[in-house]
Amino acid sequence: MNKPLKNSLETAFTHDSHVEIPLICGPMYPCSNLELVAAVSKAGALGVVQPVSLTFVHKQDFRQALRDIKSITDKPIGMNALIEKSSRRYHDKMVAWVDIALEEGVRFFITSLGNPKWVVDAVSPHGGVVYHDVTERKWAEKGLAGGAQGLIAVNNHAGGHAGAKTKEQLFEELADLDVPLVCAGGIGNEAQYVEAMKLGYAACQLGTRFIATKECNSSLPYKEAIVSADADDIVLSEKITGIPVSIINTGYIKNQGVKPGRIARFLLKHPRGKHWMRLFYTLKSAFQLRKASLDEQGEQQFWQAGKSVAGIRNIESAGDIVARFKKALESMYDIK
Ligand SMILES: Cc1cc2nc3c(=O)[nH]c(=O)nc-3n(C[C@H](O)[C@H](O)[C@H](O)COP(=O)(O)O)c2cc1C
Repeated sequence: MNKPLKNSLETAFTHDSHVEIPLICGPMYPCSNLELVAAVSKAGALGVVQPVSLTFVHKQDFRQALRDIKSITDKPIGMNALIEKSSRRYHDKMVAWVDIALEEGVRFFITSLGNPKWVVDAVSPHGGVVYHDVTERKWAEKGLAGGAQGLIAVNNHAGGHAGAKTKEQLFEELADLDVPLVCAGGIGNEAQYVEAMKLGYAACQLGTRFIATKECNSSLPYKEAIVSADADDIVLSEKITGIPVSIINTGYIKNQGVKPGRIARFLLKHPRGKHWMRLFYTLKSAFQLRKASLDEQGEQQFWQAGKSVAGIRNIESAGDIVARFKKALESMYDIK
């Protein structure tokens, strides 16, 4: 299932997503702006929109943003549906965004943080495909029971919500489920991409690498911090959403710490308290992350990134990255 086909870049993922290169620019709150998504898809990989990032950070109307992307490229894009049931209002919004995406021709969906069943039910009649984010087998089985057709295997080097296992451990743990597996985390350069594809992954999903691009609207100090950071500058903070998130260990983070305070820790242990605490954290960090990512003065050093920073040494265009990765994969497969 995950084995590459001979003499071609085609994998089960490229088949499902209808893109040329088995590479995804993963959804990123607050860094996914439409120009970045369009540039990645235009270059032959898959750009994925993050509706909260488009509407709340970049102040765009969701449908119009999808149309703007279509005016740049007619190649496929994906959409991220964060399906955690934090509030009824948020869920209704996500349902409406999925409907709009379908109406605008999106057919590839990545679900995170919940049961993907309602998304599968909504998109399947239109020929849509759902890949579900997982960090271990337990969630993979639940996601597949909900109808997901593929899995984004989020490892311990990923930006955003990191997993606990290495890409090798996750591949081994999930391979016999016999669905396409996408490696998410720790891929900053072509050598790391080729290494992951050699393990047998059907594609790789990158986040941090695509922040340090000309098309990403995040601030220059954020991009420069990614370029100069090494893997040991990345720490996990539980203060952002209540679950570990990878972040650059800036002076700001050192000052505020990465562990929740005593009261928050107490609340996070109880089901009702946990719900409210996570909601509080999510709302608070949504504002902070937005502000920090757009702050060109670089004073708000609240910057998410994964350990893939180690392989990122310059700010370049998203299309150049995709082209370089494609070339590296062609050499691996010995495609002339
Ligand atoms: C700044 C940032 C924000 C992210 N936001 C989201 C998100 O909103 N939804 C999601 O499913 N994944 C999110 N991710 C995870 C990425 O889509 C991707 O899986 C991950 O970045 C891969 O690891 P890498 O950063 O080492 O390439 C985010 C990652 C980063 C770095």
